[in-house]
Amino acid sequence: MGSGIAQACAQAGFDVTVREVDQRAIERGFASVDGSLARLVKGGRAAEADAKAARERIQPTISLEDLRDCDLVIEAVLEIMAVKRDVFAELDRCCKPETIFTSNTSSLPITDMAAITKRTDRFAGLHFFNPVAVMQLVEIVRGISTSDETMATLRAFVEKLGKTPVICKDTPGFVVNKLLVPYMIGAIRLLEQDVASPEDIDAAVKLGLRHPMGPFELLDYTGLDICMHVANVLYEEFKDPSMAPPPLLRRMVAAGHLGRKSGRGFYEYDEKGDRKKS
Ligand code: CAA
Repeated sequence: MGSGIAQACAQAGFDVTVREVDQRAIERGFASVDGSLARLVKGGRAAEADAKAARERIQPTISLEDLRDCDLVIEAVLEIMAVKRDVFAELDRCCKPETIFTSNTSSLPITDMAAITKRTDRFAGLHFFNPVAVMQLVEIVRGISTSDETMATLRAFVEKLGKTPVICKDTPGFVVNKLLVPYMIGAIRLLEQDVASPEDIDAAVKLGLRHPMGPFELLDYTGLDICMHVANVLYEEFKDPSMAPPPLLRRMVAAGHLGRKSGRGFYEYDEKGDRKKS
């Protein structure tokens, strides 16, 4: 999601430094930003000159040191606590003391990440939604030690992005994923019980609830591995069976059927990520 977040910040007029692990990752990120900006321009949601200016405000780097003077860091690395803690420990050494640290984690505890740093009051969650360019919500997650001042700065920042903040407590899944994951798991269980096909369950939710996507379209869109990861985190914490990843989800992830990004999930996709006609 890093590229989408960088793009949203640049479009709001912020100078953005993006740190990636290598040059290939930088190229992939820019390809995604270019594609997204082109869609916004095509749909009349952004002027061409503004899109170009936004693109130019994004500076790539492979060195964490280059973030030293940033006012705000938004981390979007792998959803593995040890990896996040390593990154924050290093950032804490190289960034100026005033820098606010945030994580785009969808479910891991903010307070556990903050604890590796010496700035627990300037640490919070900033959880964006895919596709970042069009989704209006950002969850701001308050860790146990996050200060009022940090919360106020982050609220103003999210509003400057043109998005709507919702403040939540540091509890697994925050608001959206706490509701979304049991719903997606429920849909997979319907399929396991042969209640209806993925197409029909998706149609039922879109037509009956006016959701833009059905649960299987959304699972394929966000990634089955992501859903399984969040479900595991929620289940570990609450031991609530409605949050445990069902066998079909586990098997599909093991088989590499991760959704749109792998070309196959509950549906099949071409190289451009468009759904194949069945
Ligand atoms: N960049 C820029 N614009 C984009 C875009 C992107 N990445 N993706 C879609 N758009 C634009 C399209 O260009 C189109 O614009 P116009 O109206 O100007 O033509 C508009 O959005 C609608 O897109 P489409 O016509 O392609 O298709 P759609 O109407 O089905 O909308 C969708 C696509 C916005 C993804 C919509 O289906 C939707 O809102 N789906 C639900 C998404 C959702 O629930 N996201 C949350 C996932 S959970 C998560 O992210 C958090 C987590 O922790 C796992």
